[in-house]
Amino acid sequence: MLTIGIDLGTSAMKLLLADENGTIRNTAVREYPLLFPHPGWSEQEPKAWWGALQSGLQELLSGFDASEVVGIGVGGQMHGLVALDKDDNVIRPAILWNDGRTAEETEWLNTAIGKETLSNYTGNIAFAGFTAPKILWMQKHEPENFAKIAKIMLPKDYINYRLTGVHACDYSDASGMLLLDVEHKRWSKEMLSICGVTEEQLPHLYESYDVIGTVKEEVAVALGIPASVKVVAGAGDNAAAAVGTGTVGNGACNISLGTSGTIFISSDSFGVDPLNGLHAFAHADGHWHLMGCMLSAASCNKWFCEEILKTSDYASEQIDMEENLGQNRVFFLPYLMGERSPINDVDARGTFVGLSLDTTRRDMVQAVLEGVAFAIRDSFEVARSIGVRIDCSKVCGGGAKSPVWRKMLCNILNIPLDLPQTEQGPGMGGAMLAMVGAGLYPSVKECADALVSVKETIYPDPELAAKYEAQYRKFRKIYPSVKDLYKEIK
Ligand code: XUL
Repeated sequence: MLTIGIDLGTSAMKLLLADENGTIRNTAVREYPLLFPHPGWSEQEPKAWWGALQSGLQELLSGFDASEVVGIGVGGQMHGLVALDKDDNVIRPAILWNDGRTAEETEWLNTAIGKETLSNYTGNIAFAGFTAPKILWMQKHEPENFAKIAKIMLPKDYINYRLTGVHACDYSDASGMLLLDVEHKRWSKEMLSICGVTEEQLPHLYESYDVIGTVKEEVAVALGIPASVKVVAGAGDNAAAAVGTGTVGNGACNISLGTSGTIFISSDSFGVDPLNGLHAFAHADGHWHLMGCMLSAASCNKWFCEEILKTSDYASEQIDMEENLGQNRVFFLPYLMGERSPINDVDARGTFVGLSLDTTRRDMVQAVLEGVAFAIRDSFEVARSIGVRIDCSKVCGGGAKSPVWRKMLCNILNIPLDLPQTEQGPGMGGAMLAMVGAGLYPSVKECADALVSVKETIYPDPELAAKYEAQYRKFRKIYPSVKDLYKEIK
């Protein structure tokens, strides 16, 4: 039996076909454009996601017996606002998780409503990328579009809707809307009223492994899969990645180096960071997690290599970096799209510090990779400060393919890092949720225990970790000293 896992990412959709033993039998990738209609804005066309699914699925299934497919699970980029009218047509391009247009609405929510009240209602405060401030933005700036809204959903829910005709959302992804009472897993009536939306405009809520329906007859025919294929509610990409890397159960940790960078700490019980620097969200295994999210992680390396150095050969840029680890005199603040955790500053921008005439290309690439790892450490420190113990972590995402980046991260955090067999976290997680939904495993935990294995563990080297500790102390001083300038240069 086969299941399809889909990672609805920001730059591409990654599809994978897995059997019940967790072996990945095939993969396919479809890229789509990211639209920046205005500096700091970030949008995407939902029809581009659906197009990617249609053509990606064809390639994925070619040479396989599609009648063996029993389930589909999608892990998707979180927080994006997809608005449908009464005929279920998309009203405007989706406003994505890394869009910074809602500074005013975010500020209003955090001050006029107040962080404490928001946190009481939802377990979280407002961040610019979250869905609620986007709804307020649309109400103010596009009243004619706002008036047309019949359904609000998240990116992966749009895919699930196109597959099944059902308006559904799972708790992990819904947590990032700032409309969900995360602890009690129900829409917050107070938040709906603050945002001027009704419960009828929101999708039904499910656990990530719950089956929301089967594939519509005509869609099944067009996609070449059986109409009996069960579609599960799926999860936000980070919760899906956590499932895919086996990050389930109390205290398990996963770090994802994708377009965004996240540190995800699984928990059996609901808990809130008192300063709300970390998000308190539901997990796809039926429990909860805390998460720090940085807006630009592997995308910093992609930007620097592709846009500035004009190369897509990332590995060659990292060839002789090992010998210079822990002693770079160049630093980089990775805030290319502003930053979420823990500084919550939409105006922050990427910044190189310490350049001199002898700075090399390698020093700068290294500073970019280190800057991302230092920024992950910032969220790691917040978790530690509230008593969360992290003894080791999984690592996944495109950035995790780089051995030198993994080594930096391991020594900057000073904990061992486990590299799972596949770095395809969200896609694998989606396929595993589908296996649970299709009845192949009784629970997410049992599925993860059976299927996830570690390919390699790397351990910190005390000498290098000490050097990086000193480097991190320097990194920590940079943002506070340039912070005010960002507001002037925006
Ligand atoms: C998490 C977040 C990002 C997106 C990217 O809060 O905003 O990780 O989900 O895909």
